[in-house]
Amino acid sequence: MRGKILVVDDDPDMQFFLKKALEKLNLESTLAGSLSEGKVRLSEDAWDVILLDYKLPDGNGIGFIPLIKQSRPEAVIVVMTAFGSRELAMQAIKAGAYDYFTKPFKLEEMEVVLHRAMERARLLREIQRLRQEREAEVHWERIIGYSTPMREVYRVLKRIEDTDITVLITGESGTGKELIAEAIHRHSKRKDEPFVKLNCVAIPEGLLESELFGYEKGAFTGAHRKKEGKFEQAHGGTIFLDEIGDMSPTTQAKVLRVLQDKVIEHVGGTTPRQIDVRIIAATNKDLTKAVKDGTFREDLFFRLNVMTIHLPPLRKRPEDIPLLVEHFIDEANRKHNRQVRGVTREVMAHFLAYPWPGNVREMENLMERLVVMSESEWIDKTALPDFLQISEDTPDLEGKSLTDILEEMERALIVEALRKSAGIQARAAKRLGITERSLWHRIKKLGIDPEFIKQSVC
Ligand SMILES: Nc1ncnc2c1ncn2[C@@H]1O[C@H](COP(=O)(O)OP(=O)(O)OP(=O)(O)O)[C@@H](O)[C@H]1O
Ligand SMILES: [Mg+2]
Repeated sequence: MRGKILVVDDDPDMQFFLKKALEKLNLESTLAGSLSEGKVRLSEDAWDVILLDYKLPDGNGIGFIPLIKQSRPEAVIVVMTAFGSRELAMQAIKAGAYDYFTKPFKLEEMEVVLHRAMERARLLREIQRLRQEREAEVHWERIIGYSTPMREVYRVLKRIEDTDITVLITGESGTGKELIAEAIHRHSKRKDEPFVKLNCVAIPEGLLESELFGYEKGAFTGAHRKKEGKFEQAHGGTIFLDEIGDMSPTTQAKVLRVLQDKVIEHVGGTTPRQIDVRIIAATNKDLTKAVKDGTFREDLFFRLNVMTIHLPPLRKRPEDIPLLVEHFIDEANRKHNRQVRGVTREVMAHFLAYPWPGNVREMENLMERLVVMSESEWIDKTALPDFLQISEDTPDLEGKSLTDILEEMERALIVEALRKSAGIQARAAKRLGITERSLWHRIKKLGIDPEFIKQSVC
């Protein structure tokens, strides 16, 4: 890597010498002759290393360190002090410098220090990049999950950002359908317009029509004044039709008409109104089957099924369990002012084996209860409710940690994908649903040798 070095030193001879020496090391340097100039330069570029003289015309270099740490935390600081001032060097390191050398110094001495500083700068950048990559992969908005299906969901969510496409979200109860619907709305052009929820089962059949389309005064007994329906409230924004699989045939017909004509009419009214809404629907029913059984209109199904997002049940994506546990502990700690740090390994093993019929919602509720009730920093097995005390079904971790096991799984999947792709990383990455760069990092991290796999395939 070709590094960028900022040299803050006022001595012209030293400046000249350092510039030459750095050039020889293939490092690009910029000079500043005073602290004030250094401050200006600091904000101008992403410096890898800052070489800081102690004695400067307008102050001492150590006083400058906190400012660097604050505005350029990724820059590695090396301080130059006069010979025999170890005291000062120690002060500099305490203030946050990474290393120092004393003047006068030999070229090799400087080279060694700079080499190490550059290596550190490279590592810091790498860590930052990996952290960002991980951040981008483990969640999208408030949606947590690192499993392949969840990352596929994020990919789709990113693709449909800023569009008006109709989305049908399917998945068992508690898998996060509403959470996803809200996120889609917040990432659409309509984000500043209303997001209106309509739960198709919560409303009695007789009232659903007036709830959806509104009514005129006197339309029926009890209609004392006219009222807007959900579609009107959502005008310009998004309507979320929840539990769509539970709509009665009459309502289905009416909703279909709105979707086709984009026009509504109040109950008891005669003037049609133009409506502009984006539709997101959700169901935990299998609509294809409902269509086959004749309980759900096929034409409505096609209108809704433009883009489908399926959320798999939690038991089908156990990789997400540890992340979700951590997330819900954090949330419960914040909400109830607790300091629970986590669950024991044994508890995690129970969680991984448990089928979570209520999915993420069940876990969220359980974690909140466990955090509130916990008497220690770590939630242990004794805190678990009876239904989770299924010790025979718990997989034997054989003394391995969860990290070990996940790493083993990751390694196995990557090796398999490489083998199937004849060692071609681009192809293997595609197979795994990750970027080539991400695959490359994983290969490095796990110490897999793709060349070896290539040879063993051929
Ligand atoms: N991937 C996730 N990350 C973080 N929280 C989640 C996730 N999935 C679900 N949740 C949380 O779990 C709870 C249930 O989610 P949500 O209400 O969206 O589920 P649902 O699929 O609509 O369920 P139902 O079919 O019962 O209506 C919510 O509190 C939600 O915030
Ligand atoms: Mg829901």
